[in-house]
Amino acid sequence: MLFQKTERVKLMHKDVAVLTGEYDSRRHEFRKVNEILRPDHLPTGVLLDGPDSVNLVSLNGWFQWRAIPKYRVDLGRLKERLHISDEKELLELEYGLSVSDHYWFADIDDTKFYAELNFFNRDFDQDGFGQAMFRTSRYEPKDTALHTPNNTLCGYHRKAWMRNEHGLCLYKGSTGFHQQECINEWLASVLADRLGLYCVPYDVLRYEGQLVSVCPNFLNLDLELATASDAIAAMHEKLPDTVDSFLAAMEVHGIADARASLEEMFLLDYLMLNTDRHGQNAGILVDANTNRWISMAPIFDTGTGLGCFAKTSELETLGNQKNYRLFSQKHLSFESLLDRIQNWNRYDFSTLDDMPDLFRSVLLSYRSTTGISDERIEALCELLKSRIDRVKQYQLTKRV
Ligand SMILES: Nc1ncnc2c1ncn2[C@@H]1O[C@H](COP(=O)(O)OP(=O)(O)OP(=O)(O)O)[C@@H](O)[C@H]1O
Ligand SMILES: [Mg+2]
Repeated sequence: MLFQKTERVKLMHKDVAVLTGEYDSRRHEFRKVNEILRPDHLPTGVLLDGPDSVNLVSLNGWFQWRAIPKYRVDLGRLKERLHISDEKELLELEYGLSVSDHYWFADIDDTKFYAELNFFNRDFDQDGFGQAMFRTSRYEPKDTALHTPNNTLCGYHRKAWMRNEHGLCLYKGSTGFHQQECINEWLASVLADRLGLYCVPYDVLRYEGQLVSVCPNFLNLDLELATASDAIAAMHEKLPDTVDSFLAAMEVHGIADARASLEEMFLLDYLMLNTDRHGQNAGILVDANTNRWISMAPIFDTGTGLGCFAKTSELETLGNQKNYRLFSQKHLSFESLLDRIQNWNRYDFSTLDDMPDLFRSVLLSYRSTTGISDERIEALCELLKSRIDRVKQYQLTKRV
């Protein structure tokens, strides 16, 4: 363990010491902030109660959100393999380093520099953790599996960072029928590409006998991600976690095209029947050297859609259900998304005409791994076609 019980620590942002405080490694949280050294480098959404006082609840909320959550698929198996009793222990093993932001923490006297520590450049035991996360047969990883950027990788699905010839990429597994979420991620990113939407590209691979979606890390040493919920929290007013609050926050930070970016997300969510656009499944890009907000982040995590948890017989009527989630708002209709889109002139939906056929060929190509039936493949392609037809139809009523 890096820390023993309560330790005096410093929270760092790259090589900027942001604050000093006391950290409790039994509860995996900050007990006290002693000194705020650089309030301008506090994580987005971590609030000040006064000029010399950080709101501890928001600091710990942000800090622990970066951990693997209790609801991670197959967490029990992972903990057994890594010989840990609480997933938050991992936060302390590698300085709390992430590859989605540039925060880390260390003993107050630690003299390390970010250049030697960060996982954007430093190698790690990627297969050790990857196999501990994904392998279904017996597996005993080496201790090195405990020291990876996966220690601060949140979210429900099994996932692991891997480095290949293109750089860091995220492998993410499925839970729905026939591992559909992975193929959905790919599909969403191709739809987005055809329509010119700003979206992370996803591919599909087999890893440990299962499908995983694979996407490049869209951040780098100068760029980090903050969630839409944290962007709203940063307003210092108790605003609800809604799109209007998010737009208000973006306006304060001078990001003029936020509405257009959100519209792109709504369109993709409509086409994909995505049910899971909570406030951490959208975000902003932040300049890691200045904490300046740059733009909305590219669309990511669009896999929970196209009825991946629905029976084949339910697919046809899925679009009528009210189960779109938009930040904290639940049970919205998918049709209401279309009304939120103002600029319909920019989209050429004829670029999607071959997508149902392409979707079919990809579903077929992974059939030996997913066991999906012909009937379900046809129902899914039909569902996709009906989504595309519907946006074409809607566009005709709106185009000027
Ligand atoms: N391409 C990427 N580059 C950098 N960080 C990423 C990337 N993709 C995901 N992340 C980070 O990893 C987190 C989890 O990823 P993602 O949302 O895809 O997982 P999930 O398990 O599907 O999430 P959920 O719990 O919403 O279902 C994101 O919130 C983000 O912080
Ligand atoms: Mg997510």
